[in-house]
Amino acid sequence: MSNVIIALDFPTMEVVESFLDKFSGETLFVKIGMELYYQTGPEIVRAVKSRGHKIFLDLKLHDIPNTVERTMRGLSALGVDMTNVHAAGGIEMMKAAKRGLGEGPQLIAVTQLTSTTEEAMHHEQLIDASLNESVINYAKITQEAGLEGVVCSPLEAGMIRDNTSDVFLRVTPGVRLASAKADDQKRITTPKRAKEIGSTHIVVGRPITASDDPVRAYHDIVREWEEA
Ligand code: C5P
Repeated sequence: MSNVIIALDFPTMEVVESFLDKFSGETLFVKIGMELYYQTGPEIVRAVKSRGHKIFLDLKLHDIPNTVERTMRGLSALGVDMTNVHAAGGIEMMKAAKRGLGEGPQLIAVTQLTSTTEEAMHHEQLIDASLNESVINYAKITQEAGLEGVVCSPLEAGMIRDNTSDVFLRVTPGVRLASAKADDQKRITTPKRAKEIGSTHIVVGRPITASDDPVRAYHDIVREWEEA
């Protein structure tokens, strides 16, 4: 299976099911985000899992260690393959998350949200460093806590690899074929360039889900990614 993760940003289980029906016989790696999960509950994970697909459950947990550990235990029982927390929750929280999730599934962390500007970080979080320094610091404490990697901008992936390790995952949204429209993404790159910079996985939503031919759009992206 490829490391191209399809973001299932749909409102209901029915729409997800009819989207997945188009990919008959293929095993996909899909991302279920908080919008869909909070509407449908754990049932969406069971339904997608029963079709044999691999699931990245993108819930970005951030709470006290005990709560996160117990929540992760439940998500692990659901059979998720990858999930995440906010690195801002701290090393103790991340270690607790990892304990709860156990050894099978991969756990990654959000560093600074890509919607956070350096100015907002200075004024709202009172972090004196540059945005890149903060992202690198969060990536390092994520590694120290024993997690497998981070979600980040493809443009940050090389810098994170250089400050952690080759095997530390860099899962990156904001990826489009050169021919596609940007939607609301501000800093985008192509699958080929993302791999060259240092992404280990790419997350692609609308270029596939909003396409007239999602199966073809997916394969075009996978081809460029695999060949890079
Ligand atoms: O449709 P598009 O390809 O822009 O979707 C990207 C997916 O990645 C969405 O689910 C979006 O919420 C998510 N994401 C993002 N940027 C981040 C973190 C997550 O686009 N920094």
